[in-house]
Amino acid sequence: MTLAAKLEAVTQSRIIEHIITGVATSDGAGVKLTRVLTQNLQQRLDPFLMLDNFHSDDPDDYIAGFPDHPHRGFETVTFMIAGRMRHRDSAGHEGLLQNGGVQWMTAGRGIIHSEMPEQENGVMEGFQLWLNLPARRKMIPAWYRDIPKEEIPNYVTGQGVSVRVIAGTSNGVTGAMTREDTEPLYIDIDLPAGSTFSTTFPATHNAFVYVYRGALTISGKILGENRMGILANTPQADGVTLSASIPAKAILICGKPLGEPIMQHGPFVMNTKEEIYQAIRDYQEGRLAG
Ligand code: CO
Repeated sequence: MTLAAKLEAVTQSRIIEHIITGVATSDGAGVKLTRVLTQNLQQRLDPFLMLDNFHSDDPDDYIAGFPDHPHRGFETVTFMIAGRMRHRDSAGHEGLLQNGGVQWMTAGRGIIHSEMPEQENGVMEGFQLWLNLPARRKMIPAWYRDIPKEEIPNYVTGQGVSVRVIAGTSNGVTGAMTREDTEPLYIDIDLPAGSTFSTTFPATHNAFVYVYRGALTISGKILGENRMGILANTPQADGVTLSASIPAKAILICGKPLGEPIMQHGPFVMNTKEEIYQAIRDYQEGRLAG
């Protein structure tokens, strides 16, 4: 759905504090991917715990998928740019994630799910983001929503920049999802050559931009393809301005930090070691999900 935006001026853009190149790795049953937000950045980018980018036209890189595995203590947001992935979980949810759709899953106290490709060839491309839950809500019941492309609000600026608002509010357009505790803003931006785009968000929120096509310039610094720019939390900065001299596509993600201890062990993210041991015991004894 295309909506009318109320474009807001950014008086001072954030600058790029640090440029990150992802780390090639594999997960699930051997899916090749690039981990962009790694564990050492969890404090800096609180409330975000992980960002993976997958992009391949070689079925050997993705066909094994992600068979049954558990999660506890956070949310996963999967944005499928191209390809088809079937989701099934222990709470009885099933869905097909495809072409521009998003899956938002709250693992909460526990879920066991599988994410398996429903294609034997062609391109599979997308992102999976992990968003933390505050301590007092880590043990809420699991929750799940499939958001097809048509249900993601989008707007187009006068310069032809097309923006899809997955979560939060950008230039007056509220996205498909909102979250009170972490106030995430998650937008997918398609910029034609020669265009500029701005969106406001609080200076206290941790923010980053990932360019997945072309290149962008942010406050005079170039952010190239497949690079993440961590944006500095400059107190006077009221948002960010992106400029594209060549066509570019990027995601911009920011959120309100929780400021709580982060204890991760694989698919479990809690606040203390004791809670991690409990999650492992619950999983081994069949009490994690359900
Ligand atoms: Co998973």
